[in-house]
Amino acid sequence: MTIFSQGDKPIGLASDHAGFTMKKYIIGLFDEQGIRYIDYGTDSTDSVDYPDFGHKLGKSIDTGECDFGIAICGTGNGINMALNKHQKVRSGLCWNSEIARLVRLHNDANVLTLPGRMITQQEAYQMIITFFNTNFEGGRHQDRINKIPCI
Ligand code: RB5
Repeated sequence: MTIFSQGDKPIGLASDHAGFTMKKYIIGLFDEQGIRYIDYGTDSTDSVDYPDFGHKLGKSIDTGECDFGIAICGTGNGINMALNKHQKVRSGLCWNSEIARLVRLHNDANVLTLPGRMITQQEAYQMIITFFNTNFEGGRHQDRINKIPCI
């Protein structure tokens, strides 16, 4: 199945060292399928701090450079926390396809965050396919996501 890129902007990618190998796998998939992306780093398995890369991806969504992204750290938690500090980001930490489906359907997530050390490449692939092929349901869920930003 082809990965459907929501919208026509490149997909933003970010990881720390613990997510780097999974990000390389995803970049391989995107290259194979001609999907445009911007890689905000990191670029090796050398130890780094996940907020540095989560914030780069978060800023790209806040400024409109990207509409969607994929973020990866070891557990997914740290980079997810950094991303969700950005006003326009709704990043969902996913570990199976059903959660990836529901985070689009109910939460209109614009970043798929993956726990790189806890999942297989095949599981990541299935979550990516599901995430990018599921549309937001709107309705009552729109009212709920409208209440997420701090005022
Ligand atoms: C790095 O060792 C690890 O702490 C990081 O990738 C992530 O799991 C943090 O939430």
